[in-house]
Amino acid sequence: MRISFIMLILFISAFSQVEYNTQIQPIFNNRCINCHGGTSGVTLTSYSAVTTSIGNNYGTLIVVPFDAVSSPIYDKVRLDKSPDHGDRMPRGGSLSQTEVDLIRDWLNEGANEALVAVYEEYATPVDFNLAGNYPNPFNPVTAISFLLAKPATVALSVYNLSGLEIFVSQSDYSIGSHKQTIDFSNQPSGIYFYQISFRAQGRQEIVQNGKMTLLK
Ligand code: HEC
Repeated sequence: MRISFIMLILFISAFSQVEYNTQIQPIFNNRCINCHGGTSGVTLTSYSAVTTSIGNNYGTLIVVPFDAVSSPIYDKVRLDKSPDHGDRMPRGGSLSQTEVDLIRDWLNEGANEALVAVYEEYATPVDFNLAGNYPNPFNPVTAISFLLAKPATVALSVYNLSGLEIFVSQSDYSIGSHKQTIDFSNQPSGIYFYQISFRAQGRQEIVQNGKMTLLK
């Protein structure tokens, strides 16, 4: 009972989400609505106004759920580049990095008004299926195969028995089956471990581990 309570706390804090009403709307209230409080154009007075406002210069909705980088509202406030159109907002100043990061995270989490149940954020084994490596044992090339039901970023690291990372890769993959080939020509015979992580848009990362044997 006690253990599971502690695990629940860890679980919730590991996947804490940005909450619109307490963390995002106050930024707009303090820094934006003196200029964007009207009834036409970009209006930032409520969740429904924010998510239905269209930026004239960008020609699109200012909020793109799950995609901060494509959201005009993020482009207008981020500090690491100038906006594609017009001035950085708030006009004549800027938000703090913390505020910018909150807006980015809120967008990337789906731009929800209410917190979504944590379990919905999990990728399921149906989304990603790791088929392991073939051949195994191998010399000197093997390939790790996996099947994706959603587009995902896949990162792969291979370690030797001393824990040294000897191979690393990260790429975006489309739906379907894929293979990552690894060449061990420069490595000695032995056991190697790999860790592969999958992250689909709006989902938590899932990580799987495997073992393989190089026989020269
Ligand atoms: C002092 C007035 C002022 C404040 C404060 C202000 N804005 Fe603006 N905003 C403008 C003006 C003027 C424009 C149109 C010109 C431009 O895009 O630079 C604009 C345009 C925009 C656009 C539309 C871009 C398009 O496609 O036309 C967005 C999105 C935006 N602001 C977001 C914000 C956010 C978010 C805040 C608060 C962090 C904010 N603004 C604060 C004056 C302001």
